[in-house]
Amino acid sequence: MTSASAPGKVILFGEHAVVSGAAALGGAVDLRAKVTVEDLPGSLTISADDLILRGFSLDLVSGRIASAEALNAVRYVRAALQEFEARDLRVKIESEIPLAAGMGSSAAIVVATVAALNMHLGLALGTKDIAQISHMIEKKVQQGYGSPMDTALATFGGYLLVSTSVMPIDLPALDIVVGYTGIPHDTRSEVEKVQSLLARYPDIVAPIFQAIGSISARSVPLIRDRKLLELGELMNVNHGLLEAVGVGSRELSELVYAARGAGNAIGAKLTGAGGGGCMIALPGPAGAEALMVALRQAKGLAYSVKTGCEGMRMEVGK
Ligand code: PMV
Repeated sequence: MTSASAPGKVILFGEHAVVSGAAALGGAVDLRAKVTVEDLPGSLTISADDLILRGFSLDLVSGRIASAEALNAVRYVRAALQEFEARDLRVKIESEIPLAAGMGSSAAIVVATVAALNMHLGLALGTKDIAQISHMIEKKVQQGYGSPMDTALATFGGYLLVSTSVMPIDLPALDIVVGYTGIPHDTRSEVEKVQSLLARYPDIVAPIFQAIGSISARSVPLIRDRKLLELGELMNVNHGLLEAVGVGSRELSELVYAARGAGNAIGAKLTGAGGGGCMIALPGPAGAEALMVALRQAKGLAYSVKTGCEGMRMEVGK
């Protein structure tokens, strides 16, 4: 039996602007997906009883599927198995990362699957190969769409500054709170919406993207020097700019205002593609607990996480 795990992620700054070449900063978080592979002669089974949305079991031989939502997560594992022509295996997925929320759950599942298969089948892939193959698999399943940020963070962990290239960046851990609206989001349609706005109003939207890129760049020394008040202020500005390009929603705004109000957050913004999914907030003097209570009262799911966490790892003996 071989197990590997990989972390989810949040985008701290720069979503959408990064699609047009501006800088974005992402961090791995300490919510993880774990994939276990064991020999099962004559069969190929994927199970994910512990997935957050609903448990399911898929027998690839009979094609039996217990839940439609789960099929999405399974598609990534199946694509990884196909990539290596793997058979005679039982694959089990366990994940603490909310699905379809913009927290990198599919990338973490792909990376953990590739890492577990690498060890179990003796494929001798290096870490860079795992990142590259996982990105290719994620892109294939998402039909050509998908930035390398999620799979790179799931593999290497830490922080990544992404613009035209992807650069690992050494920064201290941050304690943040993630609020999930419970509404799955669709990255592709949000990106298309924003890109269409840019095409129609380049003189208005391009400067917004430029401002967002400057926020990402300025956030790096602020995190390094733990200047949290300024960092929170830039989160608020970035949220406003994302609202301006149309990826906010009532549910996201309710969580953002609950965080800044009753939750006493220093700053709060939506994270990822928007339209649904998650927001992040930086806890103030009242701490993460008060913030989580405020988010739950505003009907969100709340997770207290650290950013800059460890990437993919083998889970020996677990
Ligand atoms: O919500 P997510 O994690 O899928 O993030 C999307 C981030 C975008 O900048 C909107 C798109 C991208 O590919 O960078």
